[in-house]
Amino acid sequence: MAVQRPSGARSGMSADASGGDAAGVAARSGAVSPGGDGFAPSALGTQEHWDAVYERELRTFQEYGDRGEIWFGEESMNRLIRWMQKHKIPLDASVLDIGTGNGVFLVELAKFGFSNITGIDYSPSAIQLSGSIIEKEGLSNIKLKVEDFLNLSTKLSGFHVCIDKGTFDAISLNPDGAAEKRKQYVKSLSRVLNVKGFFLITSCNWTKEELLDEFSEGFELLEELPTPTFSFGGGSGSSVAALVFQKT
Ligand SMILES: C[S@@+](CC[C@H](N)C(=O)[O-])C[C@H]1O[C@@H](n2cnc3c(N)ncnc32)[C@H](O)[C@@H]1O
Repeated sequence: MAVQRPSGARSGMSADASGGDAAGVAARSGAVSPGGDGFAPSALGTQEHWDAVYERELRTFQEYGDRGEIWFGEESMNRLIRWMQKHKIPLDASVLDIGTGNGVFLVELAKFGFSNITGIDYSPSAIQLSGSIIEKEGLSNIKLKVEDFLNLSTKLSGFHVCIDKGTFDAISLNPDGAAEKRKQYVKSLSRVLNVKGFFLITSCNWTKEELLDEFSEGFELLEELPTPTFSFGGGSGSSVAALVFQKT
């Protein structure tokens, strides 16, 4: 789904934002101050929402074998794998997919040859769906855990690469103290990622500049990955930001 927006308007995660590289209507509650609480709360920021989504997708997978939605589309996965390939990330590097959803990105990583990959999600039905898809693909060596990234229960640490595709966006829409939750996200990320480790984030709710601000403490921007652009009324912009940070 491609959405064209006037220049200056923002894309944002919406219930129909999955599958395409552009998203729905901005959920902003007004002027954006980076680091502030700029998004209107939404069901997409709650675990209840994701539990319901993945329970439904699990039933669909069991009945029809359909793997469900891939957030930001297939190209968003290829873009990340291309970067990992270009930067010669070793195939045995430990990779964490934060908020893995249906785990399809883990499947792609494993098919590409990565052998030390972990997916976490706070939704048990997402992890069940990921497990079913991984099993059907006949893949082994993929670790899955039900984990709230904001309240990690285990000694999850030592990752060389952390991936986020839409999870920081979802957390930003939490109706209950999103600003605090974003800060906790950065703390959790610092805890699980090795020094000099890479953090690859794809977002439809935050611009490059805002993400730079959110991850200013302890992370530096290495690269902005090209994403499709839209144009309208003489202006052009990108509806999705894909950035690579390195932990300092
Ligand atoms: C937009 S979906 C993206 C799913 C997947 N990364 C993809 O690209 O298809 C957001 C995911 O983040 C998960 N999530 C949200 N908050 C989380 C948290 N605090 N801890 C772990 N997972 C979380 C949701 O359950 C959901 O699977």
